[in-house]
Amino acid sequence: MKTYRIAAIPGDGIGKEVIAAGIDVLKLLCEKEGFKLEFTAFDWSSERYLETGEYIPEGGLAQLKAFDAIFFGAVGSPRVPDHLSLWGLRLPICQGFDQYANVRPSRLLPGIEPKLKDANEIDWVIVRENTEGEYSGSGGRVHRGLPEEVAVEVSTFTRNGVARIHRFAFELARTRPRKHLTLVTKSNAQRHGMVLWDEIFYEVAKQYPDVQTDRVLVDAMTTRMVLKPASLDTIVASNLHADILSDLAAALSGSLGIAPTANLNPERSFPSMFEPIHGSAFDITGKGIANPIAAFWTASMMLEHLGEARAAARLMRAIERTTAERVFTPDLGGVHDTRAVTNAVKRAL
Ligand code: IPM
Ligand code: MG
Repeated sequence: MKTYRIAAIPGDGIGKEVIAAGIDVLKLLCEKEGFKLEFTAFDWSSERYLETGEYIPEGGLAQLKAFDAIFFGAVGSPRVPDHLSLWGLRLPICQGFDQYANVRPSRLLPGIEPKLKDANEIDWVIVRENTEGEYSGSGGRVHRGLPEEVAVEVSTFTRNGVARIHRFAFELARTRPRKHLTLVTKSNAQRHGMVLWDEIFYEVAKQYPDVQTDRVLVDAMTTRMVLKPASLDTIVASNLHADILSDLAAALSGSLGIAPTANLNPERSFPSMFEPIHGSAFDITGKGIANPIAAFWTASMMLEHLGEARAAARLMRAIERTTAERVFTPDLGGVHDTRAVTNAVKRAL
């Protein structure tokens, strides 16, 4: 029987709750679809960091590399500064495994109360550059604590890095019915990196004459998403721009509690990583009310990546049946808990 090895990293906060729910649903699904998922759990988390001083133990990435995919919960704790937790766990995996294409679909699922009059027109995929740009990590801080203190945060745009993400976005846009790709930029103000970003987009565009394009400044993009949702389809944006726009997209299409993401290494030289975008949500941790839908949708993206398209579609249909029946956690205005939503999806499967 076809077997896939999955590394599960629940991490912090509600990550533990939603990854457990995801594994529960996935186990039932693969049984029904006739393949096997073999999960190995890693305790890499802020708790581990506070005990040992490390998120990822010595040799951890090499160990992780052997897996077919990574199913990731969340990282972030009130007891650890956010920049340490992020750079301790999530970013070393994204950068170390060259997961340069971050894919974030948004769509209003059946039964979900639209936040906008035109929300049912939302059917977007945001492609986020995921290894450089504003999150390159280059920069530094000197003269700490003195009045002369300086901090420099360098956005890095490389020709290779920009070309490959634009190519990825065009390839994706081409597979979607509308074949439309919007370039998000801020090249009016950021005249070096973002100008290169735009230039390479139009160079790559020449190879995709079947894909229609337009170009929108990131500030104008926020109003466009709210006021003209139907004018957008596939969207490509830099690391930080897409980070911000994808939260807006999640809110407009219902809740951060349903939004999935895939951190892809398209060449498959390394495993890709799949995670809900909601983060650790310490305000509701341990209450059993975390929305598992984002983790399920994320799991569906993972199956798609593994080549199990039929199982991925089946899981998506089960999610949609559950939202249509309004089996909702409190973030969607419901009274159900994580377990009830999980059971509903399992019944639908
Ligand atoms: C996301 C998150 C992360 C990011 C946080 C947790 C640092 O907001 O995946 O969108 O900014 O990349
Ligand atoms: Mg974000």
